[in-house]
Amino acid sequence: MMICISGIPGTGKSTLADELKKRGYNIVRQNDTVKDFIVSDDEERDTKIIDEEKWVSSFKPFEGIIEGHLTHLLPCDLVVILRCRPDILKERLQHRGYSQEKVMENVEAEALDVSLIEALEYHEPCKILEIDTTNESVDIIATEIGDFMQGKIPPSHGKTDWSEYFGMII
Ligand SMILES: Nc1ncnc2c1ncn2[C@@H]1O[C@H](COP(=O)(O)OP(=O)(O)OP(=O)(O)O)[C@@H](O)[C@H]1O
Ligand SMILES: [Mg+2]
Repeated sequence: MMICISGIPGTGKSTLADELKKRGYNIVRQNDTVKDFIVSDDEERDTKIIDEEKWVSSFKPFEGIIEGHLTHLLPCDLVVILRCRPDILKERLQHRGYSQEKVMENVEAEALDVSLIEALEYHEPCKILEIDTTNESVDIIATEIGDFMQGKIPPSHGKTDWSEYFGMII
């Protein structure tokens, strides 16, 4: 079974994957798989542009968990989408030293449910679990993902609603 952990930058994918690795899961990082598919380096936005179609079509599925903000595009058996309340996400990204433009680009994408909507375009809802990380410990989220993989908790999405945060982004 291949499962992905996706979500907007700053929602906690790598932190969670670190914890799942400690628990014995096989973890692959998106960043380690895209190197041959970088088409340009957008220095202005401090972002590498990936040929997503080529990356997805040549991706060899494996047993384990892949984490990264594009991984919901892969042919995964299960999909976890991490969410974070926009005002808290803003703090997390500012703390990283991101430019104001990059912070707001990501906060806007989170407020507009971009990762979830894309995941629903590529996967049946019965494969998707959305988790709000805003006030949840990494420990509890890691256990939730383990339970989801074992079929102990059902898929679900649509519980987060950031519409009251739209004011932040316009
Ligand atoms: N459950 C959580 N509760 C509180 N803070 C968290 C949680 N998960 C992660 N963080 C914090 O949020 C920040 C971003 O986490 P992380 O680097 O794991 O995000 P990411 O989704 O991997 O981002 P990127 O896509 O840019 O790699 C870090 O400072 C981390 O300590
Ligand atoms: Mg990360």
